[in-house]
Amino acid sequence: MRLEVEISGKTFRSVAGETHEVLAPVNFSLQSGEVGVLIGPSGCGKSTMLRIILGLDRDFHGTIARPPEARIGMVFQEPRLLPWRSVEQNVRLAAPGISETKLSELFRILELDAHRGHFPGELSLGLARRVALARAFAVEPDLLVLDEPLASLDDALAGRLRGEIATLVASRPVMTLLVTHSLDDAIRLGDRLFFLSPRPARIVQEVPIAIPRAERSEAALSRIRTELGALLLESK
Ligand SMILES: Nc1ncnc2c1ncn2[C@@H]1O[C@H](COP(=O)(O)OP(=O)(O)OP(=O)(O)O)[C@@H](O)[C@H]1O
Ligand SMILES: [Mg+2]
Repeated sequence: MRLEVEISGKTFRSVAGETHEVLAPVNFSLQSGEVGVLIGPSGCGKSTMLRIILGLDRDFHGTIARPPEARIGMVFQEPRLLPWRSVEQNVRLAAPGISETKLSELFRILELDAHRGHFPGELSLGLARRVALARAFAVEPDLLVLDEPLASLDDALAGRLRGEIATLVASRPVMTLLVTHSLDDAIRLGDRLFFLSPRPARIVQEVPIAIPRAERSEAALSRIRTELGALLLESK
């Protein structure tokens, strides 16, 4: 499977009638097994780009090609759970065919066992984010789109969930697009990093990470970090 993104532009019109250019031309593609990471300043247009890629916003210039049968798992920047449904129901609604074994495994991995019967209003933001991750994983996605999924989690939990995302990505041929402000998440999870300009977003630099994810030791990661630092300085 392959995702082809060819956006030639996107503007928003404000209530006062002014137009704001949010996306400049942005072109990239992703194939199954690849993790693309979008990194860019706040407000540059990342979430807007994800909504376009998901088909939730069709008011743009360009084309998005993704297989029509692709199952999509999505974690929005705000967890967007159904408030009148329990944690378990929120996940089951997204994946009606899910087995009890798989559901229990997801809740165990995401440390949500104790919260299955709770309602979204009873959850902290970090817990709600984990439910959103459980929901995205439950559908066994072909395209996984994650908008800052690890924000507001403590370092230890964020590290564990990063590991789970890596495991999921290794276990099935999934195309993953991750938005993050964390360079560390980017180099631990990404195959290709797309550095974006301030609004209107365009790709200022694309950095491939050649070492396979499973082989990125702490020493290798520290080398990647140094190389990336030099590269980003050079491009300034
Ligand atoms: N529905 C909308 N109507 C008008 N302007 C919008 C709308 N949604 C977003 N914008 C504007 O588009 C720009 C990009 O917003 P977007 O949410 O895509 O940024 P972002 O890169 O995801 O930022 P952050 O890192 O803070 O999440 C911002 O200037 C925002 O104010
Ligand atoms: Mg955003």
